[in-house]
Amino acid sequence: MASVTLRNVAKRYGLVQVINDASLDIEDGEFVVFVGPSGCGKSTLLRMIAGLEPISGGELSIGGHMVNNVAARDRGIAMVFQSYALYPHMTVAENMEFGLVNVGTPKDEIKHRVAAAAETLQIAHLLQRKPKDMSGGQRQRVAIGRAIVRQPRVFLFDEPLSNLDAALRVQMRTELAKLHQKLRATMVYVTHDQTEAMTMADRIVVLRAGIIEQVGTPIELYERPVNAFVAGFLGSPKMNLVKGTVTSLQGGTVTATIGTSGCLTGSCRVGAIFAGDDVTVGIRPEHLQLVSGSGDLSGVVEVVENLGNLSLVYVALESGETIVCETRGRGPKPGENVGLRADKGAVHVFDRHGVSVVDHTLKAAAMEGGA
Ligand SMILES: Nc1ncnc2c1ncn2[C@@H]1O[C@H](COP(=O)(O)OP(=O)(O)OP(=O)(O)O)[C@@H](O)[C@H]1O
Ligand SMILES: [Mg+2]
Repeated sequence: MASVTLRNVAKRYGLVQVINDASLDIEDGEFVVFVGPSGCGKSTLLRMIAGLEPISGGELSIGGHMVNNVAARDRGIAMVFQSYALYPHMTVAENMEFGLVNVGTPKDEIKHRVAAAAETLQIAHLLQRKPKDMSGGQRQRVAIGRAIVRQPRVFLFDEPLSNLDAALRVQMRTELAKLHQKLRATMVYVTHDQTEAMTMADRIVVLRAGIIEQVGTPIELYERPVNAFVAGFLGSPKMNLVKGTVTSLQGGTVTATIGTSGCLTGSCRVGAIFAGDDVTVGIRPEHLQLVSGSGDLSGVVEVVENLGNLSLVYVALESGETIVCETRGRGPKPGENVGLRADKGAVHVFDRHGVSVVDHTLKAAAMEGGA
């Protein structure tokens, strides 16, 4: 087990800067998830930690030792990829043993480790099978098993579940979380699936275009996104983000009109924005209530998605923007005029650069007082 530290790490391919000044402390035993849209640099960052990709600037340490110039095989890491990359001609047992045989681990020790890993991953009955005779989920378990037997200080996973179907992904997600609890190993996990990030991570690192936008626990990022990008990335359905204009500011309270559809009120740091400023206003679907008559906002129902226990109601505002509201029961019918009321303290305001101006102390106080 070991910590992983990045200090101003950069990656350039010629003139193209792919990772920009990344600094991050991953604690010993922590489960950290890198999340972000395609091409933002998640795999590159992971491959740099693995030693599969040289770093162009900064310092990378594992277990307190700088490893910039340490070869991948000497870093004490094991990586699991999206493509399982198993040897097709070898059995499951042989696939898992292979890396250990290569480094001269004693035979008895190999047998013991493979048996223990197979037990943990519930593939003991498959040890003599070949990869082609197994399901995708079983193959991915073998790939994880191959990493476990090496007893690495750090596990690195690059989208290990994205080749699996939805149900199996959910199952493997909980199994990986259990595995982490059992092994207490440091794990760094890449995904572009925000649900995986929210459910598995001790801390999430949100990346955009090679830049770390925010690092925090899932709840911190969900409740206190530092900018509109993070706000819109985490949560399903996404946070509603609509254009607004600041019409009134009183101490730490800001009111923004949303075109001709109404206005929303939130908290803000004094001096962060001014009357007349264009802002982006954010509110999560679960923080909007449908009301009869006029609420904070009004619009026309476009679509209702009935999910059984709740409905997602898509409401068109006059501006053409659509806002989603989560409601219990069946919801209204398309074409109906509806009002929407925002829970107290649930509104996020972002300045014209998309940076949050929310004063979280005030916001928390408002939420306790209201809703
Ligand atoms: N050899 C290379 N030369 C130039 N640019 C590269 C090279 N390899 C990767 N890149 C660029 O680096 C950026 C980051 O790539 P990376 O594979 O890390 O993204 P990612 O976040 O893992 O995306 P995905 O979710 O699609 O896997 C991309 O814009 C990619 O085009
Ligand atoms: Mg990738």
